[in-house]
Order: sequence, then structure tokens, then C-alpha cells
Amino acid sequence: MAYNLLKGKKGIIFGALNDQSIAWKIAEKCYEEGAEIVLTNAPIALRMGEINKLAESCGNAPVIPADVTSNDDLKNLLTKSMEHFGGQVDFILHSVGMSMNMRKNNPYTALNYDFTHKTFDISAMSFHRVLQLAYQMDAIREWGSVVALTYIAAQRVFPDYNEMADAKALLESIGRSFGYNYAKKNKVRINTVSQSPTRTTAGSGVKGFEGFITFAEKMSPLGNATAEDCANYCVTLFSDLTKMVTMQNLFHDGGFSFTGVTAEVIEQMEK
Ligand SMILES: NC(=O)c1ccc[n+]([C@@H]2O[C@H](COP(=O)([O-])OP(=O)(O)OC[C@H]3O[C@@H](n4cnc5c(N)ncnc54)[C@H](O)[C@@H]3O)[C@@H](O)[C@H]2O)c1
Repeated sequence: MAYNLLKGKKGIIFGALNDQSIAWKIAEKCYEEGAEIVLTNAPIALRMGEINKLAESCGNAPVIPADVTSNDDLKNLLTKSMEHFGGQVDFILHSVGMSMNMRKNNPYTALNYDFTHKTFDISAMSFHRVLQLAYQMDAIREWGSVVALTYIAAQRVFPDYNEMADAKALLESIGRSFGYNYAKKNKVRINTVSQSPTRTTAGSGVKGFEGFITFAEKMSPLGNATAEDCANYCVTLFSDLTKMVTMQNLFHDGGFSFTGVTAEVIEQMEK
């Protein structure tokens, strides 16, 4: 059921790769709630063409390529988006992450630093890049809202999350620091949403992901939050109903983050 929560709002969605992507569900939900959107992803990710299906189902949304490590690409994205919308945007979703160390199975104690730089650049510094360019280009309307997706490995150790844990800690810190500055400039709010493990291309890249997601399911009183649940939550954060929420890391994880142990886990241990 739609509530028209985003009627008249215009937003940019980063990171929809395929229909498993969390950003894909968020784009669909934003459109369903009345928003107009622009979709973006790295040029190489667009080559597969999957995103065109999403664009079609979201009112023929423009698809503008941008590698998040390139200032020029991001500037072009913001310029073209504002041209398309005829003015500033109301919301931005950052749903981007990548680790070559994970892909190559390099453990945390034997990182390849060229890969680590890339991880930090793509998964964390890109958030600063997007915000700084938007700030300088005055691309976000007053009371606009920006959300980036993150994971609880930023606060607690999940060994196989590798250097992505450090990238997420940086991402969340950037959300807070820029949240202060952008609130002062023109009341733009910035939050990170810390999502449950979710079966996606990036998610499944984590070593032992199936065990990991099952454990989280048993450790969450409400169960794991799905990508669709995440989309619903992000819609509320883009809406005017959450205007005073900023600089927060918001756990969207069925209660996992504050649970010490559950009956299901104890039962498993007693077997
Ligand atoms: N899946 C999970 O378990 C989970 C849990 C918590 C948080 N997250 C976060 O959610 C976000 C989205 O991930 P997902 O799980 O939907 O996986 P996904 O693989 O569908 O999305 C990751 C996206 O990042 C994009 N990307 C990578 N390098 C890029 C670059 N240089 N420029 C532009 N885009 C680039 C990819 O093309 C892809 O669209 C990530 O930040 C991820 O860390 C995922």
C-alpha cells in the first residue's frame, strides 16, 4: 500500500545493480511513494543493462553513469540530474560498496593496500565526495535527506567482513560530520542505515555468508530485515515525517544490534 509519502520529491539513487540490490527495492519504493528519480551506477555495472528494466518500471527514470571515485563523473551526475528535475534534488541514496580484498580472499591480516585504498575510496570516501559536491553545487533542497547504507561491523567485530568494517566506520563518521555541516548550511539531514545481512551480490561476497545470515536471523528477535523492509524505512527517512533526524546511525536489523543472546541460539548451543 502506498501513502504518497514522497509526492513531488526528486531523488538520486546510487547502486542498483540487479533486482537483488537493496537500492533496486528502494528505487521501486520511492517511485511507488510518488517520487521522481534518477538512477546511477558505475559505467561497468551499467553495461549489463539490468538497470534499464528498473528505469522503465520507475517512469522511465534517466540512468546516468558515474564511478563514485570520479569527481568529474559525480559533478556531471549532479548537473544532469538538476537539469532533468529543473532544480535541486530532495534526497540521495548512497548504496555502494566493494572490496577487492574480499573478492581475492585476502584476510584482514594480509591486506593488499592498493585494494584497501580502492575499498575506502569506493565504499566510504565516495560518500564525502557526493556530499561535498552537492554542498558546493547547492544541489540539495532545504530539508533534503541523504541516506547511506552501512553494516554493524563498523561497531563490532565480524572477522570475515574484513576491511569493509573499517570502511563502514569511516562512512558512518562522514555521515555525522557532514550531517553537522549540511544541517547548518540549509537543514539537509544525513543518516546511515545499518541493515541486516541481505542476499545480494555484495552481501554474498562475504566469506561464509550463508552461516552469517542464518546466525543473524536467529539472533534477531524480529528476524532479519529484508531489502523490502529497508526500502520502506528509507522512504520514511526521505519523507517529511523524519525532518529532525540527522547525524544518526540507525539500526535496521530486527533488534540484532541490542540482543545479547536468543532462545534459538542457546538451544543450538545445547545440542
Ligand atoms: N547485503 C548486505 O548484507 C548488506 C548489509 C548491510 C549493508 N549493506 C550495504 O548496502 C549497500 C548496497 O549493497 P547491496 O548489498 O545492495 O549489493 P549490490 O552489489 O547490489 O550493490 C553494491 C553496488 O555498488 C556499486 N558500485 C561498486 N563500485 C562502484 C563504483 N566505483 N562506482 C559506483 N558504484 C559502484 C555496484 O555496481 C553495486 O550496484 C552497500 O553499501 C552494502 O555495504 C549490504
